[in-house]
Amino acid sequence: MNTKLLTTEDIAEAAAILQRGGLVAIPTETVYGLAADAFNSQAVASIFAAKGRPQDNPLIVHISDLSQLADLAETVPPAAMLLAERFWPGPLTMVLPRKASVSDTVTAGLDSVAIRFPAHPVARAVIAAAQTPLAAPSANLSGSPSPTTAQHVMNDLAGRIEAVLDGGASDVGLESTVLALTGEKPVLLRPGGVTYEQLTEVLGEVIIDKAVRQQIDDTERVSSPGMKYRHYAPKAPVQAICGSGDATAAYIRSAAAQTEGRVCVICYDEAVGTFGEAECIAYGSEADPAALAHNLFDALRRADEADADRIFVQCPSDDGIGLAVANRIKKAAGFDVVMLG
Ligand code: TXA
Ligand code: MG
Repeated sequence: MNTKLLTTEDIAEAAAILQRGGLVAIPTETVYGLAADAFNSQAVASIFAAKGRPQDNPLIVHISDLSQLADLAETVPPAAMLLAERFWPGPLTMVLPRKASVSDTVTAGLDSVAIRFPAHPVARAVIAAAQTPLAAPSANLSGSPSPTTAQHVMNDLAGRIEAVLDGGASDVGLESTVLALTGEKPVLLRPGGVTYEQLTEVLGEVIIDKAVRQQIDDTERVSSPGMKYRHYAPKAPVQAICGSGDATAAYIRSAAAQTEGRVCVICYDEAVGTFGEAECIAYGSEADPAALAHNLFDALRRADEADADRIFVQCPSDDGIGLAVANRIKKAAGFDVVMLG
């Protein structure tokens, strides 16, 4: 299959491909998504094939109008309405009890469905033109970092999908916040652009799922199947170094000096050029965690392209969007984490 590169002028063409059951990668404000008509099971099944995604990992359904909620969720709790008012459209996904009409292929057989109303004008225009909610995971090959540009999508999926719609680089750069509203208390399953602090402002108590900060072993039941897979992972082993900028840089300098082969350091702008022979990939200032979020996945892909044998990453603290940045770095590291005082 020859994958077409579409522009923002081609929204009608993207919608037509989706309506006949094809796959189109579309830009969103978080990362690029690989979209299919959520109510066409065959189309949704082909998403799993194109990505090499495990069948037990459910997909997020994207809407462009609040009225579409009623086609997907059996009930919409008051907390969900409050959150929708404050954060939609935007980088928040809510897990709600599902309608029976939502296919098991989308939900991986769970009795809940994940729903997001993206803010990106192109994503919204495509959903509206397709006249159906769109199931869309991140548009990467399963296991690799999520794509934040059309080029990243092409690198992973050219030849496997009908089209990529280029809408420029994703603004947030990390996937949406996933919040489960199916139990007694809201549970943060995946941190993202809407922060834990913002959620607690609206909801009061929010539980942070254990898998956000630590490794879950294969035998444990996870609330969100996606959390158990190693993710965002370059080929070379990654180590996450957490602590102040100065302490992490000093640790990495000494570790790099003792490491054989090609070392890559994904570091703060402030530390560029301080790691001797090691290659530096700067991903933003320590003082600007939103920039770190925006650049992290591109940096992981570049470390891969640099043929690194070993990758060290300076990892920010858990405040604000830092929680999401640190979560993705720790997952890329398979939770090989060094915590400095
Ligand atoms: O920002 C995003 O959310 C992007 C863009 C394209 O919208 N999408 C995305 O999808 O990151 P994906 O498939 O890469 O991640 C979806 C996550 C997975 O960890 C999955 O397990 C979880 O959401 N998820 C989906 N449905 C769920 C459900 N019913 N219950 C619990 N977790 C669910
Ligand atoms: Mg993904």
